[in-house]
Amino acid sequence: MKAAQLIKFEGSGGIEIVGVDKPKISQGKILAQIHAAGVNPIDWKIAHGMMPLTLPLTMGGDFAGVIIETGSDVLNFKPGDKVYGQAPAFAGGTGTFAQFALAKKDTVAFKPSSLNFMEAGALPLVGVSALQGLTEHLNLQNGQKILIHGGAGGIGSIAIQIAKYIGAYVATTVSPNDMEYVKKLGADKVINYKSQRFEDLLSNQDSVFDTVGKDTYKRSFKVLKQGGSMVSMLEEPDEQLMKQYGVTVTSQQTRVTTERLNRLTELVEQKVVTVYIEKAFTLDQTAQALSYLENTPPQGKVVVVVKE
Ligand SMILES: NC(=O)c1ccc[n+]([C@@H]2O[C@H](COP(=O)([O-])OP(=O)(O)OC[C@H]3O[C@@H](n4cnc5c(N)ncnc54)[C@H](OP(=O)(O)O)[C@@H]3O)[C@@H](O)[C@H]2O)c1
Repeated sequence: MKAAQLIKFEGSGGIEIVGVDKPKISQGKILAQIHAAGVNPIDWKIAHGMMPLTLPLTMGGDFAGVIIETGSDVLNFKPGDKVYGQAPAFAGGTGTFAQFALAKKDTVAFKPSSLNFMEAGALPLVGVSALQGLTEHLNLQNGQKILIHGGAGGIGSIAIQIAKYIGAYVATTVSPNDMEYVKKLGADKVINYKSQRFEDLLSNQDSVFDTVGKDTYKRSFKVLKQGGSMVSMLEEPDEQLMKQYGVTVTSQQTRVTTERLNRLTELVEQKVVTVYIEKAFTLDQTAQALSYLENTPPQGKVVVVVKE
């Protein structure tokens, strides 16, 4: 089968399209024919050597596809099922920028019927990240105020939609080109982070969802109310700032599970969550897809389409 493998830690320049053996089915796994695979920042970060992984490595974590074979102990899926989920090579899968991939059975779920393969393949990591952050760590409630950083990004755009569904008042930070886009997603207050300082405009927030990190994370303490909470996708809790402002911080490690995917599917089927695809690439163009996401912050998701 064809696969996009990382040969050298040289960013997208280290990726080659190669012929490799189709993965063999094993206990606890499903073998899927990949139709589409979403691209996430972790993919280009891995290509730059962010993780100490052994090369060559088939790239890609997110996917949507059709099950070809199941491990003998897998009872909840069967060949022919349309599924979506995660199968990164560094976490028990075999990588999804490929024609076939093995995935752990507890990292996949039935594909939402209202989404095509491209939309479903773009959703797992960003959708579960938003859902886990807002509902499990921040426990966001109707009527609360939340600041979502990076609202036009993969995670931020889904987070805005879920937060509005919960009934929160949503402020978000974006670059000027993305202001109309996040208004359409439902954001109540849109802050251009290039020309405005969010801490001059906001205070007394119940929650902050940080998908940006660094200085943005540190400055966010100032807008939280006493007892408020923040989730950061990138930073570790800063004990000193937590104590100073009387707030709590969770450093989120997203785990894509069948249960969380099923909750996400419900939100998709209720039309709460919509997935926007900005650009699709073929499997042969995987390197361009990673480079595009890294260098051209998109409105919506970038996807590798493996099977038309
Ligand atoms: N911990 C985990 O388990 C986990 C899981 C998934 C993702 N992540 C990380 O979470 C981050 C976000 O992921 P994603 O998929 O949403 O990435 P993404 O699609 O690339 O979105 C990031 C967004 O942030 C915006 N941005 C950049 N600087 C900003 C600033 N100073 N203020 C406000 N917005 C800013 C970018 O747009 P502009 O550049 O146009 O402003 C872009 O829209 C990534 O770093 C990713 O690696 C962590």
